[in-house]
Amino acid sequence: MQIKVAKTAGFCFGVKRAVETVYEQAETNQGKKIYTYGPIIHNEIVVNDLRQKGVEVIESEEELASLKDGIVVIRSHGVAKHIYDLLEENQIVCVDATCPFVKKIHRIVAEESAKGKEIIIIGNEKHPEVEGIKGWSETKVTVIGSKEDACRFQTSFDQELCIVSQTTFNYNKFKELVEIIEKMGYHISVLNTICSATKERQDEALCIAGEVDAMLVIGDKHSSNTQKLFEISKKACNNTYYIQTLDDLDLNQLGSSETVGITAGASTPNKIIEEVQNNVRFNF
Ligand code: F3S
Repeated sequence: MQIKVAKTAGFCFGVKRAVETVYEQAETNQGKKIYTYGPIIHNEIVVNDLRQKGVEVIESEEELASLKDGIVVIRSHGVAKHIYDLLEENQIVCVDATCPFVKKIHRIVAEESAKGKEIIIIGNEKHPEVEGIKGWSETKVTVIGSKEDACRFQTSFDQELCIVSQTTFNYNKFKELVEIIEKMGYHISVLNTICSATKERQDEALCIAGEVDAMLVIGDKHSSNTQKLFEISKKACNNTYYIQTLDDLDLNQLGSSETVGITAGASTPNKIIEEVQNNVRFNF
């Protein structure tokens, strides 16, 4: 049996960096209280492993505000400016693992809003990354995630606008929504801040799925990007299976497959990908 593992499977650069940061902090600060503001990634296995090493997850701003000491790691999604201020006021050590690509959006929003421009974020209003980006603007921010939102948008025609995007937003949808606003005749500057990691992973999944007899997509059940990879792969390969870990792998499903493709969502640790890969290889 031939196995094709996607090169882009698993952690992207920003998530890898954030997860490694937490492990380093746990290693070098034994005995101290270490927290992540929100789960470092959407993967129960990693979060539980970190908990065993003494890293706790802070779930709310109220909880964060009540901390008296310890180290807080900011995850790759980033946070609003007032969160840094809060940590500083309370003299809590802050280790910033915000992805540099997200940090760049914070800088753009802070600078452009300081010039008086209103900010539009093309993205999902509820996503923590978008909440964080919003919190860097000095002016009004509108989040647009759908055609309906875009059509509903209005502001003064004297007002200059700056449009940025959530890093994981779909490029075609971004283009479509920007076009709707452009046609309204506003004075806008558009900055495409979409990160290529997601698209590259999706393109490679589609490509591999089109070449194999069966496809395995590995990721946490709550991971929306893994779900998306599954949908994309399923279109090109009907024998596509969604598994969280090796335990979910049913080798019978691979039956007479001669080639098996493997990809994984952005929050799937390498260890799990390797375990699945080795198991498939060993059993065929
Ligand atoms: Fe950063 Fe792109 Fe990943 S923005 S967190 S490298 S998806």
